[in-house]
Amino acid sequence: MEFHLVDDGGEGGGETAAPDGTRLEDLAPEPLLTRDYETRPELVYERLRERHGPVAPVDLLGVPAWLVLGYRESLQVLQDDAGWPKGLENWRARSEGRVPADWPLAPSLEVNHILIQGGPGHRALRSAWDMALRPFQDPRNPQAKRLRAAVTGYADELITLLAQGGRTGLADLSAQFSRPLPLMAASHLLGFPGSQGDDALMDMWRVLDAGPDAEPALERLLVTLGELAAAKTEKPGDDFPSHLLAAHPDLSVDALARELFMLLGMVSDHVGILISNTVVEVISGESEGGVRTALSAGMVRETMNRVVMRKPPLVNFVPRFAAEDTRLGNHTIHAGDPVWVSAAAAHADPLFAGRMAPGSSISSRAHLSWGAGPRQCPARELASSIAAAGVRRLFERFGHLELALPVDQLPWRSSPFMRGLRSLPVRYELVGPVPHITAPPAAKAPDAVPAPAVASDGVEAPDGVEAPEAPAVPDQAVRRRSSLWRYLAGLIR
Ligand code: HEM
Repeated sequence: MEFHLVDDGGEGGGETAAPDGTRLEDLAPEPLLTRDYETRPELVYERLRERHGPVAPVDLLGVPAWLVLGYRESLQVLQDDAGWPKGLENWRARSEGRVPADWPLAPSLEVNHILIQGGPGHRALRSAWDMALRPFQDPRNPQAKRLRAAVTGYADELITLLAQGGRTGLADLSAQFSRPLPLMAASHLLGFPGSQGDDALMDMWRVLDAGPDAEPALERLLVTLGELAAAKTEKPGDDFPSHLLAAHPDLSVDALARELFMLLGMVSDHVGILISNTVVEVISGESEGGVRTALSAGMVRETMNRVVMRKPPLVNFVPRFAAEDTRLGNHTIHAGDPVWVSAAAAHADPLFAGRMAPGSSISSRAHLSWGAGPRQCPARELASSIAAAGVRRLFERFGHLELALPVDQLPWRSSPFMRGLRSLPVRYELVGPVPHITAPPAAKAPDAVPAPAVASDGVEAPDGVEAPEAPAVPDQAVRRRSSLWRYLAGLIR
């Protein structure tokens, strides 16, 4: 993905720009993660842009870093992996022992997997990821068709479960749909046997929510993923871990487990955020042409592209480090300084935002929500197709959905890396009667729930498909996902 924008000449405000050579540590950077960042991050980015121009020194929970706010500067960093490599070994302050051992962001950055890693090993790992993802993201492949059918079936299970509260009612679509659905898809991708995946999924939530039980949950999760990695090494299947191993046979069991952890986190958190944001966009009428138009074949994906641009799930990327002293924005970034690209801030840069106006020749696809350059997201198609299958099914099963809160009062949750809805309260009305949870025919596997909205050639069904029959939830699946199901059943209103 290469973008060429005309240089506007200006480099942003920067009235108080530090003179050349001032060290990051000497700039007394302001804390980034304030209350304003949580509630109105766009104001924080604008303030920083005004004060410092396109690159600003910030304090990340006690550790100084550069935040890249400019669209052009973000591309400059993302497209030059040699000049701005990832890899914590490149971080000067860390090598000099100046990053506290108990820095709150350390746990998310110190697990050495593809997203964080720098160095020569990355190239082989990245090409293995690309190969291992291909069967699941090329829509013509049987694995991709099975995954989409499974996601549609999981969506049916979740909708049927939440509708046990009544044909009309209130639900939190975040907790009861957008969050569990991608976790179930991740379990399918990972090829978890039996109910083992269920407990790992619940632990992934505990880790992502960073509550008091996050640490033991992380330990349990890594053990479970280690066991899964060992099982797949011994007896490969038609799942992501086995395809990754086939593409990179040198991966140790530990290294494979770390990659699986990364996949589980990305699928569960980011895809869940994308589903919730798309649902809000469709039902709050923000999407052009109204709900039905937005849901017609190509429009789910187009709506999603707009949503991902306006509200990037990954707001700030993982750090890169200057390979040598380099001028960026109004500052000289010294070798080994950490640099965080902010997609959210770059999208608000007038250089980018101004060109998104109607009639602009720049496609909205020039956004940075999937990254850019050699380290951009390899799973964009996979993430979008899981989210699209879920959203499509949701609007087929519910004849009416409306927000139970004004759109500007929906609660958000933020971390230094991501931003998503904390909950998504809706009033719903189901199409047809409330289905009962019944036992499936003995021969029917849980993953084989039919997917009426997905044509056999993998193309999304056109608009105006008949109201689907509400399927029963196979109780075999209920048993298989017992801990997840007990939790979800507790949320029925
Ligand atoms: C809505 C969902 C997703 C979004 C918005 C997203 C976004 C991104 C972004 C912005 C990057 C680049 C980060 C950087 O440059 O530091 C990235 C990298 C990556 N993503 Fe995604 N992602 C999503 C889902 C997924 C999923 C589901 C997977 C796995 C199945 C995945 C796997 C990866 C990997 C492996 C990388 C690192 C690539 C590399 O460093 O070579 N992503 N993603």
